[in-house]
Amino acid sequence: MKVAIIGSGGREHMILKKIKHNPKITQLFVIPGNAGMQQEATCVPLDITRNEEVLGFALEQKLDFVIVSPDNPLVGGMVDVLEEAGIACFGPRQNGAILEGSKIFAKDFMKRHAIPTAQYWTFSSTQEAIEFLHQASFPIVIKADGLAFGKGVIIAQTLQEGVKCLKEMMEEEIFGESGKQVVIEEFLEGKEASILAFCDGKNIAPMISSMDYKKALDGDQGLNTGGMGCIAPNPYYTKEIAQKCMETIFLPTLKGLQSENRDFRGCLYFGLMLTKEGPKVIEYNCRFGDPETQTILPLLKSDLFEIMLKVSKRELRTEDVIFEEKASCCVVLASSGYPKDFEVGHPITYPSSFEICFAGVKEKDHHLINSGGRVLSVTSIASTLQEARQESYQKISQIDFKNRYYRTDIGKDIEEQQ
Ligand code: AMP
Ligand code: GLY
Repeated sequence: MKVAIIGSGGREHMILKKIKHNPKITQLFVIPGNAGMQQEATCVPLDITRNEEVLGFALEQKLDFVIVSPDNPLVGGMVDVLEEAGIACFGPRQNGAILEGSKIFAKDFMKRHAIPTAQYWTFSSTQEAIEFLHQASFPIVIKADGLAFGKGVIIAQTLQEGVKCLKEMMEEEIFGESGKQVVIEEFLEGKEASILAFCDGKNIAPMISSMDYKKALDGDQGLNTGGMGCIAPNPYYTKEIAQKCMETIFLPTLKGLQSENRDFRGCLYFGLMLTKEGPKVIEYNCRFGDPETQTILPLLKSDLFEIMLKVSKRELRTEDVIFEEKASCCVVLASSGYPKDFEVGHPITYPSSFEICFAGVKEKDHHLINSGGRVLSVTSIASTLQEARQESYQKISQIDFKNRYYRTDIGKDIEEQQ
């Protein structure tokens, strides 16, 4: 089979590593991919925000299967365009991806299907939103409706902060169209858990739980990022909570999608807050998470590509998805300054025997250089979290480039409790 993965981050590199040895695959492309993937697949520099460009390539190459991984093309209907031209895909159709594409849609969907989530109010007028804040209690959460590179969520501690944020989103349009409408929601307290699930529209199979470290700096300080590291399993996500999530969140979401004729064949990501009143949904994503994917896929015993084919054909069975009962720790190496300004262009050195998931890298004079905020990640799996952490940090210390930065405390809080 001729197969393509759409995307260029560490998440896509891990998907590539997991499927590249499947004997059914005769040729593997990554569109656009990055310089760190070139030895494992053919990278094709297309603009993945243009469905027609990708469709043209897929028809010309007679691709058999396309894994559409990032949010933008999914929300933009790439799967619809490819499947209507007869090319099978892993990834939801546009009417399923809207669970991530519009936060207002997601909140209304949860309300329609009685899925537990934070109380919320939606606004398209700045004035009305500001008036609302005057009688609200703080902290309160303000979210841009559309996609905003993972930066569209602000936890406002005071009225002044809230008003500033509303003006920036709705009037100055710092997130463009995405922030013209906002959701204001109740601040939830608890531990967070990321649960990714394979979903074929008929069945849902949750993967091993994980915990993402979103803040830039040690001790959960600094700005929100795409994710600086991650561990699995998530120790707060007990069997009882998993059961409760299945009953109150996962199955109702699946039934809701079915009853609204929304075609979701891909990875459905539940961002959960484990509150005192029970688990609640903070957000849906219509895709694998980054760096959750780099953390959990090394623990997947079943063949990822076979699962993806089954998902696409609506033949998924929960028993097809088996994970090792081990611990995993992923640490992200970033360019210092991320998620704000950072320097690029520094050569990266690393032992060639390491399995590394590359993200923000380019090639210059036959050498990889950093070209983005999150540059690469390493993952280790072991019998205990402590061993997995040690191994990942040992590896990270041997990877070097000027102005590199990483958090030193991924999983440390959990290890100290165990
Ligand atoms: P999101 O992009 O929706 O995942 O939000 C980013 C982060 O903001 C989440 O991982 C949470 O840490 C935080 N967050 C979002 N919504 C809420 C909420 N209602 N209460 C508390 N924290 C939240
Ligand atoms: N790590 C969070 C996300 O992928 O959305």
